[in-house]
Amino acid sequence: MRRKLVAGNWKMHGTRESAEQLVAGILAVFPAHCDVAVFPPYPYLAPLIARNGGALDFGAQDCSEHDDGAYTGEVSAAMVRDIGCRYVLAGHSERRQYHHEGDAQVARKVGKALEHDLVPVLCVGESLEEHDAGRTAEVVQRQLGTVIDHCGIAAFGRVIVAYEPVWAIGTGRTASPGKAQEVHALLRSQLARADDKIASSTRILYGGSVKPGNAAELFAQPDVDGGLIGGASLKAADFLAICAAVC
Ligand code: 13P
Repeated sequence: MRRKLVAGNWKMHGTRESAEQLVAGILAVFPAHCDVAVFPPYPYLAPLIARNGGALDFGAQDCSEHDDGAYTGEVSAAMVRDIGCRYVLAGHSERRQYHHEGDAQVARKVGKALEHDLVPVLCVGESLEEHDAGRTAEVVQRQLGTVIDHCGIAAFGRVIVAYEPVWAIGTGRTASPGKAQEVHALLRSQLARADDKIASSTRILYGGSVKPGNAAELFAQPDVDGGLIGGASLKAADFLAICAAVC
């Protein structure tokens, strides 16, 4: 049985004060029936973890593919681990789109995260153009396949996959529960071709305009193991309502 995970990706939103309030709001009604994690912006991570690390899991929104060196502006997986993060996102579509991260680079980031004892959350998903051209399966399988090739299938005993169709992120358009299930099942069958047992234990989250009103139906799909929540994770009440939708 895969335990569901609800993760809040705050992206580049908020202030130190709003970050503290959001964490306090989540902890006030702490959902124990599923795993919960938040991914605040870098500057707020260390102080939030220092204060709340035992009570809530934290993740970073990205890490470098390099160990250390002259890479101005980058943060290494070792640093992210050092401050107490459990998770790190890899290959979020906004990194792929705005920072031109390719599949191979994302795979190297997943590898670094694993080396440093983090749980990577590998994001995959097709653009609107690819979706409309009927290329969803090809795109997500290529993105996942590159990581399987680079890290090996055994890594997926630890790696979490997040299917986030780019056309559904921040747009209010959500993949229908049936469509999400179809893509999740496809990803799981790709993992199963390499190792059936690992595939059945890998968590595959859905992300893209998940809201309190649509979460239950998405999470009820057999291959949807939770959600990666953007906008709705910025309000404690909405995020908690989404956590409550996990049955
Ligand atoms: P929204 O929930 O705002 O669509 O964002 C999804 C996302 O990108 C989470 O990583």
